Amino acid sequence: MEFNVINSSLEKQNSGCIVVGFFESSDLSSVAKKLDPVSIDYIDTLLKSGEFEGKIGQTLLLHPVPNLLPRCILLMGCGNASEFDEHRYKQVMKKAITTLKDNGLKEAICLLTQLDVKSLSSCQKAPHQKTDHLNDIGWKIRQAVISIQEMLYLFEPLKTKKTPPCKLEKILFQVEKNSELANAEAALQQGLAITAGIKATKDIANLPPNICNAEYLRTQACELAKKHSANMTVEAIGEEKMAKLGMNAYLAVGQGSQNESLMSIIEYKGNHSDQNAKPIVLVGKGVTFDSGGISLKPGASMDEMKYDMCGAATVYGVMCALAQLKLPLNVIGVLAGCENMPSSKAYRPGDIITTMSGQTVEVLNTDAEGRMVLCDALTYVERFDPELVIDIATLTGACVIALGNHISGLMANHDALAEELMTASEQAGDRAWRLPLTDEYTKQLDSNFADMANIGGRAAGAITAGCFLSRFTTKYHWAHLDIAGTAWRSGKEKGATGRPVALLTQFLLNRIAKQQNSTKH
Ligand code: BES
Ligand code: MN
Ligand code: ZN
Repeated sequence: MEFNVINSSLEKQNSGCIVVGFFESSDLSSVAKKLDPVSIDYIDTLLKSGEFEGKIGQTLLLHPVPNLLPRCILLMGCGNASEFDEHRYKQVMKKAITTLKDNGLKEAICLLTQLDVKSLSSCQKAPHQKTDHLNDIGWKIRQAVISIQEMLYLFEPLKTKKTPPCKLEKILFQVEKNSELANAEAALQQGLAITAGIKATKDIANLPPNICNAEYLRTQACELAKKHSANMTVEAIGEEKMAKLGMNAYLAVGQGSQNESLMSIIEYKGNHSDQNAKPIVLVGKGVTFDSGGISLKPGASMDEMKYDMCGAATVYGVMCALAQLKLPLNVIGVLAGCENMPSSKAYRPGDIITTMSGQTVEVLNTDAEGRMVLCDALTYVERFDPELVIDIATLTGACVIALGNHISGLMANHDALAEELMTASEQAGDRAWRLPLTDEYTKQLDSNFADMANIGGRAAGAITAGCFLSRFTTKYHWAHLDIAGTAWRSGKEKGATGRPVALLTQFLLNRIAKQQNSTKH
């Protein structure tokens, strides 16, 4: 799919179906008034006849009629103006594109980005709506591209029968004012990069665990670095090197598997003046299959534990987006790959392991393996003298119980960092919610035989997992995203979501804006 922004008048654009949004029981929208005068009369008559009410999701596709409609027009119902919000914007955008696609149309000029509820005096902001993104052309274009690509995504490399390719090839977003064009074009590039990142994340996450193992993650990282060789390098730490470094907790998890544990480190240096700036470090849990190990998981839905590498897949996707945008930042992405399997060599409940940090851990459940892998990866990254570290992990079923499948868990040892991530998550529509990390919870990890146990009981399971990690992140500003509920969908729609690539890319984009502001002052 090709996307573009244009500001030329509609007459000059002589192909493509025009997509116009209408609010319920409103007159011709200001947007529609730009159409050909004859067409306006025709559409006005249709609206008055009640043929098209403008209810949310309602569509009416008008094919060209000689002397009436010079071209194809899709009327898109946007519902009640006072109820229009960010969610509805994405909903109508998706519905419009599906309609075009289902009707075999090739090209569209989408005017939905011009929907602006503020221009309607009757509009009241919904109470949950904090920021008015609908006045921000950048937000509207980014979200349009992301929602459309989300809807068109297919994962079929392993199917012998493929869906025929989508006929819809080109979508043009028209901006009203010339002054908005530069902003809109930048937003389009950001939207395209985020979309490419999301796709990259979904594509590796959806692969089966017999293909996508830690070695596969490494080859993907290397391919990406080859593509961006001016700014990117990869280093891989295998089992031998881990042993030398004392990464015994990481090694313990992988020791029951035939597949070698491998930590792939992608280093990105943007073209900017401060080449020695401290890096932002992203660490992704990359358990390519989590059987639970000796503390074996029950059989139902165990296949979904191929998604236990979604943290690493997210880091990979963010690195793709960041390189595509050539962001002027230093970022290091760590894909902490390994596999958790039962075998005679597997680690067991009762084992006490000395982590790379020197702290000892009593394993009470081999299924709490994510924190074992991450604690050593988090100690390892100290050597980069990071500006900040964010880990991303499908860490606990308890987080799914707490926040469901809509919102990722956020924990942090630094309030300003947590705030920055919350802001980015709200902007990106890729939501997170902060959970507390306080000493009361840390006590749940007490062990009779080691510095700590690897589980903290059923109560507050997402938080005790966060507390466990916090013991390995005392040397830097750190945040933890538990994406167990948000990284993939189960059931009929089973598949990776590509979250939280949008959140993290937005976070990085905001960091640049912040940097530029601080150098100006
Ligand atoms: N990868 C799982 C967490 C998970 C479970 C993600 C279900 C998504 C859906 C993790 O390794 C795990 O097994 N965690 C255990 C921890 C427990 C043993 C303390 C869990 O949540 O049950
Ligand atoms: Mn597990
Ligand atoms: Zn796991």
